[in-house]
Amino acid sequence: MKKLVFICLGNICRSPMAEFVMKSMTSDYQIESRATSSWEHGNPIHKGTQGIFQQYQIPYEKGKTSLQIGREDFEAFDYIIGMDASNVSDLRQMCPADLQHKIYSFASESVPDPWYTGDFEETYLRVQEGCRAWLERLEKESEDGKS
Ligand code: 4NP
Repeated sequence: MKKLVFICLGNICRSPMAEFVMKSMTSDYQIESRATSSWEHGNPIHKGTQGIFQQYQIPYEKGKTSLQIGREDFEAFDYIIGMDASNVSDLRQMCPADLQHKIYSFASESVPDPWYTGDFEETYLRVQEGCRAWLERLEKESEDGKS
């Protein structure tokens, strides 16, 4: 089973949103989320993101708390997916040289951070669109026999 991890700065707004939206679309992959920083370590998913889950009836783990990406995650996951350009740039700095090929951008445009914009709805639309595109890509890669 392919292993995916979505990454944002705090692991309380965007990456948990992507984790549970993607989980609501497929059970074919192991999916988790992490932070590049330790700023929110141990803190729960932001109320705004939880509000989106409730509004759109997306199942999620209420007890999930922020976790920073670590060396073992770079080893364990196949796709390490940064939600914005600065997350990808931070990941490139943190990731061992031989594992850099596992780092991807979630979408061609950065997903806006609702921590700053306050607009969880806009972020949700972008996350939904991006997760659909990732699902298509992963299914196509399987069909093409890449894994
Ligand atoms: P996230 O949003 O990276 O989408 O989880 C943020 C959460 C917390 C902070 C910044 C962004 N912060 O500065 O603590």
